[in-house]
Amino acid sequence: METKLLDPALDPTALAQAAALLRAGEVVGIPTETVYGLGANALDEDAVGKIFAAKGRPQDNPLIVHIADFDAIYALSPAVPDAARALAERFWPGPLTIIVPKSDRVPAATSGGLDTVGVRLPAHPIARELIRLAGVPIAAPSANTSGRPSTTTAQHVLRDLTGKIPAVVEGGACTVGVESTVVSLAGDTPRLLRPGGVTLEQLREVLGEVVVDRALREAIDDSEKVSAPGMKYRHYAPKAPVTVVRGAPDATAAYIRAHADAHTGVLCFDEYAEQFHGLTVETFGSAHDLSAQAQRVFDRLRAFDDTAVTAILAQCPDDTGLGLAVANRIKKAAGFHIVEV
Ligand code: TXA
Ligand code: MG
Repeated sequence: METKLLDPALDPTALAQAAALLRAGEVVGIPTETVYGLGANALDEDAVGKIFAAKGRPQDNPLIVHIADFDAIYALSPAVPDAARALAERFWPGPLTIIVPKSDRVPAATSGGLDTVGVRLPAHPIARELIRLAGVPIAAPSANTSGRPSTTTAQHVLRDLTGKIPAVVEGGACTVGVESTVVSLAGDTPRLLRPGGVTLEQLREVLGEVVVDRALREAIDDSEKVSAPGMKYRHYAPKAPVTVVRGAPDATAAYIRAHADAHTGVLCFDEYAEQFHGLTVETFGSAHDLSAQAQRVFDRLRAFDDTAVTAILAQCPDDTGLGLAVANRIKKAAGFHIVEV
């Protein structure tokens, strides 16, 4: 299959072409403010099946359903809690996915067999325009081959999925860079299932108590039942194994210098790059700039695949604010292989 890059900045028919593909039950790479998504008609089981096939994604891992207007949530859920409205008012459009009870219209293929559905109203104008043009809610996981780092440019998507999908829509580099925060309102107490672009602190401002799912903190054994099925799979991994070095940045830099050899890649904060002369270094933003770290982390993890490094040592922010999401992605890329210094 040929994979077209549809660029609305160059071709005024690009979005109409992408919407026609979506309406015809095809899968299209679409930009969002978090990461690129692999979109298809969320209400069409066959279309959704093509997403799983293109990504090589396990069937029990549910997809997020994207809408362009808040009211579209009522067709997806028979019981939208007041808390969902409050969250939407504050954070939509934006990087937040809200898990609510699912209506029968949402096929089991979309929800991974669960009786809940994750709903998100993205901020990227191209994403919203495309959902409106398609006229259906769009199921979209991150547009990467399953297990690989998520994609934050159209080029990343082409790298993973050329030949497997008919088109990718160009929408520039993603401004948030890590996926949406996933919060479940399906239980008694709101539960954070995945940290992301909206911080835990911000969620608590609206919801009060928010429980942090255990899967965020620990490695998950594949046999365990987890609230967000996606949490149990190996994720975000470049080809070379990653070790996270946690602690104060000066101390982690010293640890990395002491343990690196000529074949080691280093993922580090901008300020520390000069300490790793002679090594393969990727910087992902200032130690003090969590937004930059979020924007760059997947691109820099991917960059190591173009090098000959056989192991990667990574600096990592602490869990404050957006740091919780950035640290979670790096720890998962490392399969929770973490050294504390
Ligand atoms: O930012 C994002 O959320 C991106 C863009 C494309 O919108 N999408 C994304 O999708 O990251 P994906 O499929 O890569 O990650 C969705 C996560 C998975 O961990 C999945 O298990 C969880 O959300 N999830 C989805 N629906 C769920 C549900 N009903 N209950 C629990 N977890 C759910
Ligand atoms: Mg993903």
